[in-house]
Amino acid sequence: MGNKKVVLSGMRPSGPLHLGNYSVLKDWIRLQEEHDCYYFIADWHALTTGYRETGELSGNIQEMLLDWLSAGLDPERSVLFRQSAVLEQAELYLLLAMITPIAWLERCPTFKEQLRELKGKEINTYGFLGYPLLQAADILAYRADAVPVGEDQAPHLEITREIARRFNHLYRKVFPEPESLFGSASLVPGTDGRKMSKSYDNYIVLSASPEEIKKKIRSMITDPRRARRSDPGRPDVCTVYEFQKVFNPGERQEIEESCRQAGIGCVQCKERLASRLCRYLEPFAEKRRELQGKPHRLQEILEAGNQKAARVARQTLEMVREAMQL
Ligand code: TRP
Ligand code: SF4
Repeated sequence: MGNKKVVLSGMRPSGPLHLGNYSVLKDWIRLQEEHDCYYFIADWHALTTGYRETGELSGNIQEMLLDWLSAGLDPERSVLFRQSAVLEQAELYLLLAMITPIAWLERCPTFKEQLRELKGKEINTYGFLGYPLLQAADILAYRADAVPVGEDQAPHLEITREIARRFNHLYRKVFPEPESLFGSASLVPGTDGRKMSKSYDNYIVLSASPEEIKKKIRSMITDPRRARRSDPGRPDVCTVYEFQKVFNPGERQEIEESCRQAGIGCVQCKERLASRLCRYLEPFAEKRRELQGKPHRLQEILEAGNQKAARVARQTLEMVREAMQL
């Protein structure tokens, strides 16, 4: 509390986190050293596209919390909570809806893009159009100063700032205009060299077992022109090498040189990567095992976070109602 910056961000509980998601999570973990951090599980957001699959939600929420804690989010330092536990966010969403021009939502590039991409899925709904507004309400309910997200979220942050400005102008200044903190781009690409994504089968989850890790790495594409073991390789076009840079920085240079001279073979290179990645993720697995044995501890963490978050959101809503003379 005090004059520390308020940092807030959320993730949709849409299945286990993978190494691609971990780059954002890593920023969250770092930020908790110095700021007042609020991190939430965006279960209402999951409904905007997944309103049919509500049966998966509670399991996914549990899993997300496990992923967060095992990777290093610390409930002693950050407020970890669940969006739907703070009804004030819904009230703010409603009030902000009154002052948000539809055109701002319709022209949002993520809206148009998703409508195209998720064709066949019935998402021509009011809730889906309002996704950025819901996100704005999440952020503004905590009067956040900074929001660490992936760059794909830039349009939503822009709308959030526009809505904050409009509110402050119409009534009185309640909201800071939150800045976006775009972290380091994804640490690694997907195992096939494209962006790591749930929609392609090219991801490695944070909770992967050593066997899974080995299997995924074995199937990775290497330098396509390196047909034989005796052919020199080109690390700069090889996805395995991208991974070595991140997870095996100590051996990276030697591997690079050796690859160029056909010294190291791809099978061996992958084995070395797999063993490094296993070692990297082992502390996560250990923490996860420890927590899995204590389900009520998870409940407690979320419950405590929900309450802390609700306290702040309640204060904001008081300010909002007062400003609007409600
Ligand atoms: N839209 C974000 C995503 O898909 C998740 C999210 C929801 C969020 N509400 C937020 C992120 C508030 C930051 C702040 O990744
Ligand atoms: Fe890629 Fe390693 Fe094979 Fe070189 S040796 S092409 S870096 S997998």
